[in-house]
Amino acid sequence: MSYKRTLVTCALPYANGPVHIGHLAGAYIPGDIYVRYLRMRGEDVVFICGSDEHGVPITIKARKQGVTPQDIVDQYHKVMKDAFTGLGINFDIYSRTTSKVHEKNASEFFRKLYDDDKFITKETEQYYDEEAKTFLADRYITGTCPKCGNPHAYGDQCEKCGSTLSPEELIDPKSALSGATPKKVKTKHWYLPLDKYEPWLREWILERHKEWKTNVYGQCKSWLDGGLQPRAVSRDLDWGVPVPVEGAEGKVLYVWFDAPIGYISNTQELLPQSWEKWWKDPETRLVHFIGKDNIVFHCIVFPSMLKAYGDYVLPDNVPSNEFLNLEGDKISTSRGWAVWVNEYEEQFPGQEDVLRYVLTANAPETKDNDFTWKDFQSRNNSELVAIFGNFVNRAVVLTHKYFGGAVPANVKPMPIDAETLASVKPCKEALEKYVETFHFREALKEAMNIARIGNKYISDMEPWKVAKEDMDRTASILYTCLQLCADLAIAFEPFTPFSAEKLRSILRVGIQAGTDHRAGEGTPTENFYKPGEGKAVHTVPSAIPSEASVSLTLDWSMLGAAELLPAGHQLGQAVLLFQKIEDSVIDAQIARLEAIKAERKAAEAARAAEEAAKKVEAQKPEVTFDQFGAMDIRTATVLAAERVPKTDKLLKLTIDTGIDQRTIVSGIAEYYSPEDMLGKQICILANLAPRVIRGIESKGMILMAKQGDGKMRFITPQEAVTNGAQIG
Ligand code: 2FM
Ligand code: ZN
Repeated sequence: MSYKRTLVTCALPYANGPVHIGHLAGAYIPGDIYVRYLRMRGEDVVFICGSDEHGVPITIKARKQGVTPQDIVDQYHKVMKDAFTGLGINFDIYSRTTSKVHEKNASEFFRKLYDDDKFITKETEQYYDEEAKTFLADRYITGTCPKCGNPHAYGDQCEKCGSTLSPEELIDPKSALSGATPKKVKTKHWYLPLDKYEPWLREWILERHKEWKTNVYGQCKSWLDGGLQPRAVSRDLDWGVPVPVEGAEGKVLYVWFDAPIGYISNTQELLPQSWEKWWKDPETRLVHFIGKDNIVFHCIVFPSMLKAYGDYVLPDNVPSNEFLNLEGDKISTSRGWAVWVNEYEEQFPGQEDVLRYVLTANAPETKDNDFTWKDFQSRNNSELVAIFGNFVNRAVVLTHKYFGGAVPANVKPMPIDAETLASVKPCKEALEKYVETFHFREALKEAMNIARIGNKYISDMEPWKVAKEDMDRTASILYTCLQLCADLAIAFEPFTPFSAEKLRSILRVGIQAGTDHRAGEGTPTENFYKPGEGKAVHTVPSAIPSEASVSLTLDWSMLGAAELLPAGHQLGQAVLLFQKIEDSVIDAQIARLEAIKAERKAAEAARAAEEAAKKVEAQKPEVTFDQFGAMDIRTATVLAAERVPKTDKLLKLTIDTGIDQRTIVSGIAEYYSPEDMLGKQICILANLAPRVIRGIESKGMILMAKQGDGKMRFITPQEAVTNGAQIG
């Protein structure tokens, strides 16, 4: 299949926190590299993203801060949008799932599937908070993790041990809204029956998309092999797109139903006249860049939604990266363990490309990877500065020194010159192969190899020495070096666009611009990318003309050509492409992270102390030895057990106490059936004053242990003991 155009999307990030380096490395930098590469090749491409502004975490954050969800998303939408543009990630549109276009679109999408009978409905029991009078999303239920005992686990996940949980698994569940113990209440929801799409998905992914990255293909295969279940597409929540059918009051579309439709809505907002050809013409190639936690939604759920709807193209590829860790620990927004992109941009003005470079060179493409500040510094100082920047600077400075800044004529060539220029070709071919198969870190290595070739060539040729005796030969050496500089301006454009632009300014060349799809599409909204907006701080010498006024334009096909800059072409002044990063800068970043770690440890210790204090507080007041001695605690055996009629909780037990046979009525029917109790050896308080319970005289009490989850367990001796043995 050949394609006419490529629609590239990056996962719509949740608007409940700033973007961090894990996001960048997972989806946004790879997506931007890919789009820049396609544009340089003159391909027709649009690049779509926006904020995902629905979902429970946003409502939780709003509640915690005492503001509305809309306030939260307004705040973070701006922070995220600016962070992306600041880093040169230039989406054609960065819109929002709270836009009018999207709400209408998502609603209509649901309605069509509903009208076409593509959903099933199910009535299930969900936790309900009677005090707050609302159903509780899993995140709104807290309790003790059954796996690690963390008392602050959520109904969907324990953040301490990382286990995925369901609210039913939590010990002693409580509503995060009111603190009340939630009750199970019936509710109806719409489900997309993914099981029906399974045979088609198996064929479509497992047979027809074997070229997908192994991590993506592998995850899809394991989902499919595990068997797909119907997925709920609605939720009981008051923040989201309302379910557009009668009887669905108080229900909204599940955020993972509406968010991917956002890709369509945002394309529609960008191109109100021509958006359909980008989504419905089979000659469109759709590529989703995402992080690994999004794989199932983009490879299984969204394609099933599109298939159910009909008409739409399906993703041709879903390149997903694994996770990036920070200094050996999982990045976590809630624990503050992250490098925030907006903060980076403030602290490292003019060095946006360094982050782009390091995150690509170290991208978690096939496995999780680690970002460390030391690695960041070393890649900057020993690669960008020492190889790329150093080569370009030497070539340009020497051209100014010996040739007045004009590209010298190639008057005294030697075979090494042509051989050196020819060695760019294999780098170009490898780079293309890697980008086209979404292996950007390998692709970057190839771009860097061109810089290495240049750096080695200039060091070996030593034009500064040759110039003392042979100006003709010096001319040819610098001519060759400048061709390599132009190669670098092309090869690095997708990876380090600010430095590539700076280099183009130094070389006084332009670059092929992308197609303007917006012509005739009406007035732009504020969500469109405007060139220069939010642009990072870069020092481009004022003597250098803007790209608009240059006569030479580079495009991808020129990479590796024998001559990119003709003799006589006037260069601009030399400026350093990259700056060395000093130890003190890195030490400050490491110290900031260490402070976060120390703060977290202190908070954990305080929390543990608080828990311990609560247990101490819960301890009953002291008793005297005599008071304890007054209690007659003995072993006994259950001879007979039956339910007390018309009660749920009571069992009537006939007990052999070793002294007598007696009846004890015990409230353990919720935990033990009569059969469970038969023949069991237990411990009893034998001299408790008799009480009449439901008309039965109960003499004594069975000793039970009550766990944190409220469940009762009877106490039984480790080894069999004669009945009536005294405990104490
Ligand atoms: O994981 C996330 O941040 C989601 N908000 C991604 C949504 S991608 C798409 F479906 F919109
Ligand atoms: Zn846990």
